[in-house]
Amino acid sequence: MPSTVIVGAQWGDEGKGKIVDLLAQQSDIVCRYQGGPNAGHTIVVDGETWKLRQMPSGVVSGTQSVIGAGCVVDAQVFVDELDLLRERGVDPSIVTLSGNAHLIMPWHVTIDQASERRLGSLQIGTTRRGIGPTYADKASRIGIRVQDVLDPKILRQKIEVALAEKNLWLERIYEVEPFDLEEVWTQYAGFAERLAPSIGDASLVVDQSLRDGKNVLFEGAQATMLDLDHGTYPFVTSSNPIASGAATGIGIGPTRIDRVLGVSKAYVTRVGEGPFPSEIEGPQQAQLRELGGEFGTVTGRERRCGWLDLVALRYAVRVNGMTSLALTKLDVLSDFAELPVCVRYRLPDGTETEHFPAHQSDFHHARPVWETLPGWQQTLDGVSALDDLPGPAREYVEFVSRSLELPIELVGVGAARERVLA
Ligand code: IMP
Repeated sequence: MPSTVIVGAQWGDEGKGKIVDLLAQQSDIVCRYQGGPNAGHTIVVDGETWKLRQMPSGVVSGTQSVIGAGCVVDAQVFVDELDLLRERGVDPSIVTLSGNAHLIMPWHVTIDQASERRLGSLQIGTTRRGIGPTYADKASRIGIRVQDVLDPKILRQKIEVALAEKNLWLERIYEVEPFDLEEVWTQYAGFAERLAPSIGDASLVVDQSLRDGKNVLFEGAQATMLDLDHGTYPFVTSSNPIASGAATGIGIGPTRIDRVLGVSKAYVTRVGEGPFPSEIEGPQQAQLRELGGEFGTVTGRERRCGWLDLVALRYAVRVNGMTSLALTKLDVLSDFAELPVCVRYRLPDGTETEHFPAHQSDFHHARPVWETLPGWQQTLDGVSALDDLPGPAREYVEFVSRSLELPIELVGVGAARERVLA
């Protein structure tokens, strides 16, 4: 596996962290290429739970880690996670942070929160960590980058320029308190000492690793359906989680990527607003949420739950150029006698399609066409190989693989690292 992208195939929270952690054992370097502390990775290693927001999951196993230019960084979260690494005996110098990544400034968080409040019933349901406003400023070219903290004069100038505009917005549009230049500057200049040892040339580090024949793992945060360009806009994040984002977000060419492993739950969850055709109606939704522990790592929000959606998954196979799939949390389905799977969408004009609708109105009004597979109704606790799965569980996995015309490489049957069957 010289270079592999791991990408969420649904709306996030597919259990990517655990798969990355597993593959990180065989990797020399793990890279995050987009997103920021809106991601929440829970990884259980040797009974110890790690909850990471900003760092690549590889740090858990002490693997060299990179945060690319395509990421946005909350300096405080980053520094806290450096401390966590130290506390748990991991050398923080394994982390390289791109100087070109953008900093989430305090006004970005305030604007994210205020703008969601203003949108009211039209809100996106963001994680309110300032992600969208930071990427918006990056595109508007008034962002503040990680490397700016290294020069107090440049930093002050950039904060001054940004605040001249932001404070007007904050006071006049959102009717909240403005930020004080002196205070923000002092706080961020203060981060310089903590950030400096981590700042490096992410593109060069990864290029060199690839040239040296090392195994490089690119870890997508969020997921395909939350992709700014190819997801269910506007209910998306503000970056490109899809596999090709790894090339732009790190600064390597697309020809350097050898394989793309998608990660999908054996069912679907979604946090935030937006259409969700296979969402379960009735009490089985709450049952699945409880069984799967489907509450946000970062926000604690209840996740909406649905049965597996093969139309959306087929789309994810396409836009990522997926070469294989990891199917996680199969064990969560063990209690159900029957397992509906969405195999097609019925569109408003009565036609049925296997392909994800290109037009938003078709998607908003799509109804699921179900095929119901038998459940196995027995625990998977003792199962340690794919061949030992109960017949209906194996059939479920094979059904997904056949429908997508894609090999399923890994199957998750429990929370711990070793509960992934290859
Ligand atoms: P933002 O990324 O905070 O701007 O949120 C935009 C959308 O992406 C919202 O629907 C969030 O719930 C969703 N989102 C962001 N990060 C994650 C994640 O790590 N898991 C699941 N959904 C996420």
